Amino acid sequence: MVLKTPLVCCVKSLKLYNFRNYLNSELNCDGHSVVIVGNNGVGKTNILEAISLLSKGKGIRSANANEMCNSGTNINWVVHYDFFDGNNLNSIGIASKQDRKLININGKIQSNYSLLNELSNVIWFAPQMDYILLKGPGTRLKFFDRIVSTFKEKYALYFIKYRRAKSERSKLLKENILDDGWLTGLEDIMAGCGTHISLMRFSVLQVLQETINQDLSGFLPKANLQLTTQLPKEKGFDKIVSHYKNCLRQSRKKDSLCNHVSFGVHNDNFQISHQQKQLASNLCSTGEQKLLLLSTVMASVRARYTSPILLLDDVMSYLDKQYRGAILEEILDVGCQTWISDVNDQNFLGHKESFEFFTVRDNQIINYS
Ligand SMILES: Nc1ncnc2c1ncn2[C@@H]1O[C@H](COP(=O)(O)OP(=O)(O)OP(=O)(O)O)[C@@H](O)[C@H]1O
Ligand SMILES: [Mg+2]
Repeated sequence: MVLKTPLVCCVKSLKLYNFRNYLNSELNCDGHSVVIVGNNGVGKTNILEAISLLSKGKGIRSANANEMCNSGTNINWVVHYDFFDGNNLNSIGIASKQDRKLININGKIQSNYSLLNELSNVIWFAPQMDYILLKGPGTRLKFFDRIVSTFKEKYALYFIKYRRAKSERSKLLKENILDDGWLTGLEDIMAGCGTHISLMRFSVLQVLQETINQDLSGFLPKANLQLTTQLPKEKGFDKIVSHYKNCLRQSRKKDSLCNHVSFGVHNDNFQISHQQKQLASNLCSTGEQKLLLLSTVMASVRARYTSPILLLDDVMSYLDKQYRGAILEEILDVGCQTWISDVNDQNFLGHKESFEFFTVRDNQIINYS
């Protein structure tokens, strides 16, 4: 049994004002891992969503800032965190202003997310991710890309540049604007950024697979990760870029006819299979698929040098008693601050000393550890 100890990189307290169903509520956990228990609709995921805003993007629900305003008051929301970054305690405020988020760190308003990203990193697993493995390659690649972006600082930047150039090239081809200089310029960006994206994806894939094979708890099913790509492998950066440019140039006509970019890293295929059973994930049961995804997420947490905050929303559903225990053992062994929501605190029997327990009553968060 792991006793409660303050953990590296953690939220020590959280205050919510006009955020979702919370008009004014707070939670003090002193950096321990947290379990939020309560009936459906009481506001458990809303708390996890507030924590997820510490990472770049729209958070665990992919919601816009104005959707998070309490519908009764409709005034701007504020979330305040006492956040320990491993060295210092920081006072972080995130507030909505129309559809934007304002960030204040230790009294200074930030013009972007860069300082917040340096301080915090949040990884999550939410119910809408349970069925990723049954969906198309785009959804699976998105899941993997989110993991890659938590390892590689510049990944998101290359990704945005790539997507912009790709969409501009498609527009030119669609409108039959066959300006060679313009198209070549865009293809150069796509080839350069695409090659960076590909190399980063493969390097993270390797780290994840090594972590799954060597470090992951033997009680969780192990995933075999596979990424297939149209790009040539085992060549130098420049050679891949020049091959990429050539392929794009040669496919201009085809792409304009089929209205699709036929070559590139957006066509990569990320797949997961069950190592022990040697079974493709789509043939695995619902619970097994969830466990394969979870073990990939847990490997991404383990493999990181600085421990992220882990959010597991309603993670126990579909899992039997043995696997519920295995997930908890894995979480405690990894040692990062973890926030779990659940409808049933019996799922944590035997681990009660390792978490702070909260419930929600009348839109107030109550500690009942
Ligand atoms: N903008 C908002 N303003 C006020 N209340 C909101 C807003 N958005 C969501 N809610 C309330 O939050 C509730 C949902 O909260 P949440 O999703 O956190 O519940 P939950 O405890 O996670 O439930 P479940 O166990 O079903 O997942 C809704 O019932 C809704 O009443
Ligand atoms: Mg929920």
